[in-house]
Amino acid sequence: MSEQVIDQVGEYYDDIGELVELVGGNLHVGYWESDEDDTPFLAAMQRLTTEVGALLALRKGEQVLDVGCGVGEPAVRLAQRHAVTITGITVSHWQVAESARRVVAAGLRGRVTTRYADAAAQPFPDGVFDAALAFDSLPSAQDKTRWLREIHRVLRPGGRLVFTEYPHTAELTAADREVLTANTIAHPPATLDESVALAESAGFRVTAALDWSERVRRTYDEFLTTLAEQRPTLAEEYGSDRVTMFSTAITTMFSLCRDKIGYHVIACEKPA
Ligand SMILES: C[S@@+](CC[C@H](N)C(=O)[O-])C[C@H]1O[C@@H](n2cnc3c(N)ncnc32)[C@H](O)[C@@H]1O
Repeated sequence: MSEQVIDQVGEYYDDIGELVELVGGNLHVGYWESDEDDTPFLAAMQRLTTEVGALLALRKGEQVLDVGCGVGEPAVRLAQRHAVTITGITVSHWQVAESARRVVAAGLRGRVTTRYADAAAQPFPDGVFDAALAFDSLPSAQDKTRWLREIHRVLRPGGRLVFTEYPHTAELTAADREVLTANTIAHPPATLDESVALAESAGFRVTAALDWSERVRRTYDEFLTTLAEQRPTLAEEYGSDRVTMFSTAITTMFSLCRDKIGYHVIACEKPA
């Protein structure tokens, strides 16, 4: 990825900054089994971490890479559940600092570490990780195959990867694409086969390809409702101009996602 694009993505997440508190540090969608499932919003986001984490089939003592780790919330939750060591990478300096704070608060110093690094040019030797996760981060990649080849390189033979994708489920207009680009989403796939082909093009063998579009779709309305409810408190804490800017941008983006964006989960492995 060009340095300019990395900086833009990093700044996007630096700017959101403390507003991640609104979603309990979860910069990903939520998971509901069906329309009848009344799991509250924050719990639904934690649940997706559990569901995605389960597909990684983590084993005691494993070294795990979290590509695009946000503020480390998923890594902290996974480390609490599984006796593994997790290294997260992000291109947001703010997230690196916030992640370190959360890791210490969770008593996981040494088990979860976050550093600033580009997924497309990773600072790790070959074959050092047993498993990798790219949880709602690959949609930001300009060159997805390059990210996946890098992940393939740093995994040991037999290592596993789970990644998620934001496919489009309806035709996107030029204006829609502009909104997605402004929110760091580049090149959404059209079909599950396309997401599978992406993994295969980087040398992975796909073990599960899941379309969870309808299981996550409620996220966008739930988020906008939560934002409206908490707006006065957020404005007091972060300033009303900042909250208005955030709210306007995210309402446009999430209305589009609700109507036209789905969710793929791909589990794969590097052949031994
Ligand atoms: C939507 S957030 C997901 C965060 C986290 N996985 C979660 O579920 O809460 C996308 C993350 O990808 C990271 N990211 C985007 N482009 C990246 C790149 N080139 N290299 C490393 N991380 C990147 C962002 O900094 C951010 O942390």
